[in-house]
Amino acid sequence: MEIKPYSREGESKKAEVRQMFDRISPVYDFLNGLLSLGIDRIWRRKALSLIPDSPEGSEVLDVATGTGALAIQGAEMYPQYRFVGSDISEGMLEIGRVRVAKRGLSDRISLEPGDSENLNYESNRFVCVTAAFGVRNFENLDAGLSEMYRVICPGGRIIILEFSRPRIFPFKQLFNFYFRFILPFIGRIISKDARAYSYLYESVQQFPDYERFVGKLTGAGFKNSRFIVLSLGICCIYTGEK
Ligand SMILES: C[S@@+](CC[C@H](N)C(=O)[O-])C[C@H]1O[C@@H](n2cnc3c(N)ncnc32)[C@H](O)[C@@H]1O
Repeated sequence: MEIKPYSREGESKKAEVRQMFDRISPVYDFLNGLLSLGIDRIWRRKALSLIPDSPEGSEVLDVATGTGALAIQGAEMYPQYRFVGSDISEGMLEIGRVRVAKRGLSDRISLEPGDSENLNYESNRFVCVTAAFGVRNFENLDAGLSEMYRVICPGGRIIILEFSRPRIFPFKQLFNFYFRFILPFIGRIISKDARAYSYLYESVQQFPDYERFVGKLTGAGFKNSRFIVLSLGICCIYTGEK
């Protein structure tokens, strides 16, 4: 069954996801930090540390970039690379552009509208393609992974950061209680969107995590695909090479 934010009949998942992120964009970054107690920055840093060594001026594409959190952190970590971020939500991108300008990074980060399932970039352009908490929201995950594969250069890498379901007792049960009940409650009050943070929980439940996602990467053509478990299984980093 397809999980959509608002479950409206006749509306595509993509349209609902875009609306949801446009709506919550003003509080998105604040809630990320609050609900993860700031750990999201550590997860992103770990993912970024896996960007392969590449010549100066190489380009990294961050799909589903949202407000550009990963691209900004990446540009600060790697002054020698350029970052392109793309997303379907103009609301998220607009906030991202302000953040990029405030940090004086406008010449090294470009945030552009774009659908990850149909990327507007030539094949083999990027040394690395990243996605943080984005692929779970794709309407067609396989199409998105194929497109990411297409735009990575031979020898380049895909790095995906995504929520997973913890497997270890009793952390699994404790985290599940927080993720299913407490997080949506706080999210609803602050974002004023009744569904966004319940959708987060539901979409993680049906996401093909761990070995199943590695299988998806292999199916899209990536070699040496693997996953790294973070924070007892709340999150995983998935990597693969073209
Ligand atoms: C949870 S946010 C993650 C944002 C950012 N990567 C981060 O780490 O904070 C998910 C983002 O995926 C975007 N998204 C969902 N489906 C997309 C698609 N098909 N193409 C591009 N962006 C998409 C949404 O608009 C949203 O900004």
